[in-house]
Amino acid sequence: MPKIAIIYGTQAGSTEMMARAVEEGAQKAGAETILKNVLVAKADDLKDIDGLILGAPTYHADLFDGMKNFLLKIRDVNLKGKTGSAFGSYGWSGEAVGKMIDPLKYFGMKVVEPGLLIKNQPDEGGLEECRKFGEKIAKKIVK
Ligand SMILES: Cc1cc2nc3c(=O)[nH]c(=O)nc-3n(C[C@H](O)[C@H](O)[C@H](O)COP(=O)(O)O)c2cc1C
Repeated sequence: MPKIAIIYGTQAGSTEMMARAVEEGAQKAGAETILKNVLVAKADDLKDIDGLILGAPTYHADLFDGMKNFLLKIRDVNLKGKTGSAFGSYGWSGEAVGKMIDPLKYFGMKVVEPGLLIKNQPDEGGLEECRKFGEKIAKKIVK
């Protein structure tokens, strides 16, 4: 069964809600999933994955340090040709998603664009968008 890691960070919980819904969608498409907070995730968690979906909110027009550090830690993991994307909650500008997508491309991943941005805390409609997003990415891997 194809395996997808969903690694997310959150400060106030909205991106975590998104992450759980993205996971549900990926499972619905038949993927095995690993869901981890970026603060406890390790490069080793990615060693036999087929896909990587990163989630982070935008604060001060930026990615927070936890996700930046994780991206630095995984630079030597071979992600070339694997499928990836990114999502996050935001308030008004949402830079974090692009700032995760760029390094995933640099790692040679096949990046599904656009990533998914949900404004503030996702309502049921937002959670459904997250499930669809997870399902869409997983379907590209599961085939
Ligand atoms: C101090 C502060 C700074 C923020 N800066 C930004 C920002 O630069 N751009 C943006 O789109 N949203 C910004 N936001 C809004 C957050 O991204 C939004 O509240 C989001 O839902 C937080 O996600 P989380 O619950 O996963 O932490 C900011 C929020 C706070 C409290």
